[in-house]
Amino acid sequence: MPPSSWYIAYKALVTKTIVDASTTQIMHYSRIMPLVNGQRYFTSTAVFLNEIMKLTIASGVAFHDTRSSLGPSTSLSTLAKSVYGQVFSSDSWKLAIPAALYTLQNSLQYVAVSNLDAATFQVTYQLKILTTAIFSVTMLDRTLTVKKWVSLVFLMGGVAIVQIPTGNNGSQHLKAEDSAGQLQMNRSLGLMSVVIACAISGLAGVYFEKVLKDSTQVTLWIRNVQLSFYSLFPALFLGVIFKDGAEIAKVGFFSGYNWVVWTAITFQAVGGLLVALVVNYADNIAKNFATSISIIISFAASVWLFDFKITSNACFPDSEL
Ligand code: C5P
Repeated sequence: MPPSSWYIAYKALVTKTIVDASTTQIMHYSRIMPLVNGQRYFTSTAVFLNEIMKLTIASGVAFHDTRSSLGPSTSLSTLAKSVYGQVFSSDSWKLAIPAALYTLQNSLQYVAVSNLDAATFQVTYQLKILTTAIFSVTMLDRTLTVKKWVSLVFLMGGVAIVQIPTGNNGSQHLKAEDSAGQLQMNRSLGLMSVVIACAISGLAGVYFEKVLKDSTQVTLWIRNVQLSFYSLFPALFLGVIFKDGAEIAKVGFFSGYNWVVWTAITFQAVGGLLVALVVNYADNIAKNFATSISIIISFAASVWLFDFKITSNACFPDSEL
């Protein structure tokens, strides 16, 4: 890999680490915060808007790249035709598969953060390190040394320890009230969603990496446009219309929205585009290690900001000890 690629990979990994540390916290808070005008926002609309945001950013970069290669005097219609031709090239359908998988993963992520506290979600979500390694070995013919597999198993052990039920533990104090029809946490549902999301994360990530690295004809940003474009359909038809359509028709698409929700969506979109950069310049396994480091940062931030105390099997805010 040329040095400039290492530098981009390094910068993308560091940024992804910081973005991930903030995303889980803000997503979780957006699900448990006081209702906005008596309404909780629909996660299907957030998943859809996340794709719209990524499509807009990726299209902007794709236009900019095409203009740079065709020359600054190229007319807008020539540019548009060129970008359109690249996006709908003969193999663009290949991105419909990860698009459907990622839409499902993004929806499951909301189910998980709605039913687990942020720390439990973030740590259990690291199961994707194992699923990604398995898919990388089987689909990309990668070999992992015994040392690396052992490291993965240690990581899984850490995940298991954090999942041990602790009675009146950290997840309980975050339980949202249900008296006014608000969110009620269901830990089993949350954990099941995480496990399925991890399997999908590994499969979709490795598939995307394979498509990206198998053909160098199409740029990273065009691949991102394709991915977001195909993601719009399941996000709109299965999520917004089929799942929540009846309720949305009554209270409106943006019901329950405030700046917290918009921030959560923006962080998710930026995090998603960073995934693409990291996978392109490094690989999926490196991407997951960046996320693991984000847990440590997030944990350190909790200790510092919320005065969390560490016990043998859990951590609590100072006031609950
Ligand atoms: O947790 P994981 O790292 O698997 O998350 C992948 C996330 O990145 C998903 O939300 C997916 O929509 C997003 N993504 C993206 N663009 C890519 C690859 C992934 O937005 N090219």
